[in-house]
Amino acid sequence: MSSETEQTVFLSDYSPSPYAIEKVELEVEIAPEVARVHAWLTISPREGTAPGTPLVLDGDELMLDSIALDGAPLVLSAYASTPRALTLIEPPARRFVLETSVKLAPEKNLRLMGLYRSNGTWCTQCEPEGFRRITYFLDRPDNLAVYRVKMIADAALAPVLLANGNLVEQGDAGNGRHFAVWDDPFPKPSYLFAMVAGDLGSIHDEFTTMNGRKVALGIYCAHGKEDQCLYAMDSLKRAMAWDERRFGREYDLDVFNIVAVSDFNFGAMENKGLNIFNDKLVFAKPETATDADYANIERVIAHEYFHNWTGDRITCRDWFQLCLKEGLTVFRDQEFSSDERSRPVKRIEDVRVLRAAQFPEDAGPLAHPPRPDHYKEINNFYTTTVYEKGAEVVRMLATLLGEAGFRKGMDLYFERHDGEATTIEAFIKCFEDANGRDLRQFQQWYLQAGTPRLAVTENYDAGTKRYTLDFTQTNPPTPGQPEKQPMVIPVKFGLVGPNGAPATWTGVSGGNVADDLIVLDGASARITFEGVANRPVPSLLRGFSAPINLETNLSEADQLFLARHDSDPFNRWQALQEIATALLTRAARGMNWTGESVAALAAALAETVAAPGLDDAFKANVLGLPTEANIARVLASDVDPDAIHRVRVQLIEEIARQIAGALQAAYAAGSVDGAYSPDAAQAGKRALRQAALAFLVRGGVGGAAEIAARQYQAATNMSDRFGALAAIAANWTADAPALLADFRTRYGEDPLVFDKWLALSASPADDGALERVRAILAAPDFPRNNPNRLRALVGSFASGNPVQFARADGAGFRFVADFVADVDKRNPQVASRVLTAFRTFRTYEPVRRAAAEAALKNLADAGGLSRNVADILERTLSG
Ligand code: BES
Ligand code: ZN
Repeated sequence: MSSETEQTVFLSDYSPSPYAIEKVELEVEIAPEVARVHAWLTISPREGTAPGTPLVLDGDELMLDSIALDGAPLVLSAYASTPRALTLIEPPARRFVLETSVKLAPEKNLRLMGLYRSNGTWCTQCEPEGFRRITYFLDRPDNLAVYRVKMIADAALAPVLLANGNLVEQGDAGNGRHFAVWDDPFPKPSYLFAMVAGDLGSIHDEFTTMNGRKVALGIYCAHGKEDQCLYAMDSLKRAMAWDERRFGREYDLDVFNIVAVSDFNFGAMENKGLNIFNDKLVFAKPETATDADYANIERVIAHEYFHNWTGDRITCRDWFQLCLKEGLTVFRDQEFSSDERSRPVKRIEDVRVLRAAQFPEDAGPLAHPPRPDHYKEINNFYTTTVYEKGAEVVRMLATLLGEAGFRKGMDLYFERHDGEATTIEAFIKCFEDANGRDLRQFQQWYLQAGTPRLAVTENYDAGTKRYTLDFTQTNPPTPGQPEKQPMVIPVKFGLVGPNGAPATWTGVSGGNVADDLIVLDGASARITFEGVANRPVPSLLRGFSAPINLETNLSEADQLFLARHDSDPFNRWQALQEIATALLTRAARGMNWTGESVAALAAALAETVAAPGLDDAFKANVLGLPTEANIARVLASDVDPDAIHRVRVQLIEEIARQIAGALQAAYAAGSVDGAYSPDAAQAGKRALRQAALAFLVRGGVGGAAEIAARQYQAATNMSDRFGALAAIAANWTADAPALLADFRTRYGEDPLVFDKWLALSASPADDGALERVRAILAAPDFPRNNPNRLRALVGSFASGNPVQFARADGAGFRFVADFVADVDKRNPQVASRVLTAFRTFRTYEPVRRAAAEAALKNLADAGGLSRNVADILERTLSG
């Protein structure tokens, strides 16, 4: 495979560059088909650099037009240039200015890295290594420089010219052109550079910071979409205020702009003062966006804004430290959403994502620590492990140190490292220093891959009134890490007495226990509670206080007891999930469940859904039985997706029959009066109504499909309409095709609604799914270069349709592999992301495993793959 010859980058090889670029001046002339980039780089040798050390600048598909040093053209023998590098053979041993110019072809840039054109708008994406596609540079996050950029463009084609920092000058540039000069006083790495030129509409607002400074806020978008940016603007202002309240962080420039573009490889990007967003994470109106879309917009707007401190002001020394900014910022956005909405519900949703995406990654061939120590292609490390597990690690830190201790550590981090490019070690050191704690062992969370398993057995001795919990921790091997050290595991807990109230004890020994927290740090521990009046039921890992697999010996009766009485809402939800998971995994292995077990689960679900005083959104989550992917994950080997699908539907049918009345009541109670609002309370009502409807339809309860069809027709917002359609599509009932066709035309050509249609067409488990997807993709007018469209269709099929992707005949695997090979020619990042759907292929039963492997090998044999795809493929096959 070609990538075997590619170089692996090792963390241990890190060394600062011999030169530093301190100042960047750019003049960018933008016109259709061609952009010219003229750069003046002020460069100094770093202390200790031997005179005559060559300077090597990164490039990617660049062609040098001219080069000069301190104003004088360079002779050919003084430098070497290729598309990938520009080398000054013997630079001066003092500060100098290097002047270069290159030409770019943004319209031809389908990789969407560097400068490209989306829907007529020129925009940039530089993280992680895109700036080298704009100009030759030290394109690494530890080179911090100040930037000043002059943009020149046709005034009619691009009346709007934006870049990082403050607008300092603008005017006429002759020939119908105009210019703007943007200056960013904050030193930054090149990956945070951004510019945008286009004919855009905008909305404007203002935020007054805690110290009374006024910040001008702008959101730019395609003309006509301005009214769909209001929720994003509102989210931005709430995020700015929250970061002041919660972390004391104030915004630092006079301007904060966001631009929504239609072609974007990711969700959004935190460029200093100029965030660029995938438009699906900006645009919202009740008719076309669901409650989930609104919540997502709020979250991502906040996430990118929070990067201003955790990412921009303090950045990463190298890309191995990616989770220094991403894990921490995900933690921050999760906290924001928890404060703005319901904390327990947010926790349940985040843990769902963690288990559905991160746990499988950690259990398969692509497993890596949150802070990896080598990579071949950094773009493949923007993973759920770096992001979601990275956030869990920060959350554990907050749990271990307490809110005040955590805040002290964060304050010290901001104070000590502001303006630096730093490391995970330096981050942890701040928490050690601020709290007088030794966190060396805790750091293993950043260094070791894999999901720890924590087995617990409990014992109560009525004679001595002694209650013991025996914990054993095992850390499974992962690629390149056969042996593991024990982790520090914070276990939040409570003991629940027979009447449902907290049990008390007179003494505790055998471990580190304080209040409601047990901290485990060895391979095993026995915790003994003295003076416990009756046998309690332990509620362990409350709030999912560590990203681990907890295995208890609790009976179904104990779980049902917790589902009713636990004061921790997360564990109430968890208890019901565990009962359902146990039934489903056993059934998928051919062992039937008992009628009593199903009846008990059904009764607990009905009771929870009817219980007063519980959040509607919480109840909706209770009705969401474990997904097929989750059942597959727990099974872990010999997975047959058909069997999983079958038993899951069966269980839903049985439960729905038994509690149809309770579900219908929940559906009826969930109707919302008054105008649509995306707030948590209203959204929660709709979510519960939706969960009840989906359960009833999936359960085949008489009349439910008709109710769904009626809701679809009568809906006045997208949540209700999409929810009804999703319930119908998931069942692929007789009227599903007609309703989907109606949905396709109802909204004209709105691309974001089109994505919803694509996803709904690709996810149902019916045997026609693959042909449907093929036909849609083959249509001559299908937008083949737009990442959102491709992901909505093929991403949904590969990652959201376990039955049809993993068809026993291998057709699903072959289709996705062929798709990857094709898209790879234009956009390797989208291709390699879709390919990760194969990461659990070794857990299938033998027939599917062989079929998946054959599809992967066939892809490898075809050759000519990008480094992105080759890297994922190689690791997937060898793991
Ligand atoms: N810095 C990233 C954007 C990014 C992702 C750049 C991948 C290069 C490669 C940004 O802050 C981010 O994390 N965006 C997420 C959304 C976020 C809410 C987790 C994304 O784009 O998915
Ligand atoms: Zn981020």
